[in-house]
Amino acid sequence: MKKGEILENIVVEKLVFWGKGFVRLEDGKVAFITGWAVPGAKVNMKIIKKRKDFYEAQITEVIEKSPLETENYDLFPGAPWMNISYDAQLQIKQTQIEESMFHIKKLQEDITFLPIIPAPEQFGYRNKIEFSFWKYISHRDDIRQEFNVGFHKRWEFSKVEDYDTCLLIDAEQNKIYAEVKQFCKDSGLPVYDQKMWTWFWRHFMMRKMHFSWEILLVLSIYPDYFNANESEWFDKIQELQKIKNFLINLSEKYIGIKSVYITHNWKKADILIWDMELVYGDLVIHETLLGLTFDIGPKSFFQTNSQWAEILYSRVKDFFTDFQADQQVWTVLDLYAGTWTIGMIFANSAAEIISVELVKEASQSWLKNAEKNGITNMSFVNAKVEEFLDTYISQGKKADLLIIDPPRAGMHPSALPNILKFWTKQMIYVSCNPATLARDLEFILKNSDYSIEKVQAVDMFPHTHHIETIVSLVKI
Ligand SMILES: C[S@@+](CC[C@H](N)C(=O)[O-])C[C@H]1O[C@@H](n2cnc3c(N)ncnc32)[C@H](O)[C@@H]1O
Repeated sequence: MKKGEILENIVVEKLVFWGKGFVRLEDGKVAFITGWAVPGAKVNMKIIKKRKDFYEAQITEVIEKSPLETENYDLFPGAPWMNISYDAQLQIKQTQIEESMFHIKKLQEDITFLPIIPAPEQFGYRNKIEFSFWKYISHRDDIRQEFNVGFHKRWEFSKVEDYDTCLLIDAEQNKIYAEVKQFCKDSGLPVYDQKMWTWFWRHFMMRKMHFSWEILLVLSIYPDYFNANESEWFDKIQELQKIKNFLINLSEKYIGIKSVYITHNWKKADILIWDMELVYGDLVIHETLLGLTFDIGPKSFFQTNSQWAEILYSRVKDFFTDFQADQQVWTVLDLYAGTWTIGMIFANSAAEIISVELVKEASQSWLKNAEKNGITNMSFVNAKVEEFLDTYISQGKKADLLIIDPPRAGMHPSALPNILKFWTKQMIYVSCNPATLARDLEFILKNSDYSIEKVQAVDMFPHTHHIETIVSLVKI
């Protein structure tokens, strides 16, 4: 098969990692398919890349819809699985988790897979959303459209899909988004040009916490002050003041808005957070999870689905209590601690909790959060887990429970042998990537006498391919 070749009447077998379609072809190789693949659909597809062991293909035409597709749906940026019924989405995710353990099942046959926990809400579940202002429809072909704001297109980062309503946030958030979008459009100021690095609108981020209903806004601009000559300064200041006035008026209209920032980003880096100016309200907003309260600022990392976070964290705690009923736990190592939330829910069950996290900035605020919740038995180590473990073990220190929640890339290869040097009877591994989870579990099973007690998938982001999984590993 050659690059560019069109294959006709191909039936998509299943969905695999990152929501790509999968099919085994006549030559024995497999193809990973982009472009709204749904298992069971009959499609024509074009080979876009030829690799040593597989092809990458793109759907060119759907010949027959999959029986899993719902009749009435709108395809929506950020929710690529909208066309698949929610029951089928859950089934696909459950199957993916079980299939990702293919090699592990050869090491341990009797793995208990608990049924996936569905999301409490299928729409409006995000407490944080980020929109990009964008000029190009295609960077490569230099096709522009003056004003776009929305999400980057899946698999085509150089495009942003403009839209008016986002199904992943609630009605109030949509109204605020609509007003901000209209204001920016009516201002006559241009959208930041990523090719020419010219001003003005860059990003809009909104947080609305699920339980407190408090809202934080960040509007990011590329102000171009530096190129302004003296006579233009007055206009620039006026311009900025108009934006601030708009944001202040908006905050008075929507009482949930408690904190508003403008960020002045004159760097090329396409990031939201840069030089921040508080233009309205407080520095932080608040959220409550499992009876703990958190201060959340524009830079804080916080789980994007609060209801789901409660479910995930409770399950982690349940996995612990189910196994540890009569075990004394002195020291918990909370590895890849992020917001420290997992560590905090163990505060009453252990003598001390040590949270290890790479990003210092976020963690300093979590120290305050722990104090605010009356938790005094937590300490924080700002380090790479792999380096922390080397030192901790060489000092002969012990741990009774390991909580591991790494980023998508999974654990660093040098950290894996080290976690096996503890005498802990249980480890709880939380993962957002089934592929790296399976890789790390395989290492653990091959090199220790741990076995997998149970595996639980949790659906945090309906209508997307994302899956979160909790695994309890125990030594009997
Ligand atoms: C999936 S998040 C963990 C979330 C966290 N358990 C929570 O609930 O908030 C992964 C975290 O690992 C951190 N991280 C990434 N690589 C790391 C490393 N090598 N050592 C320590 N932390 C790391 C990231 O900054 C991120 O906060």
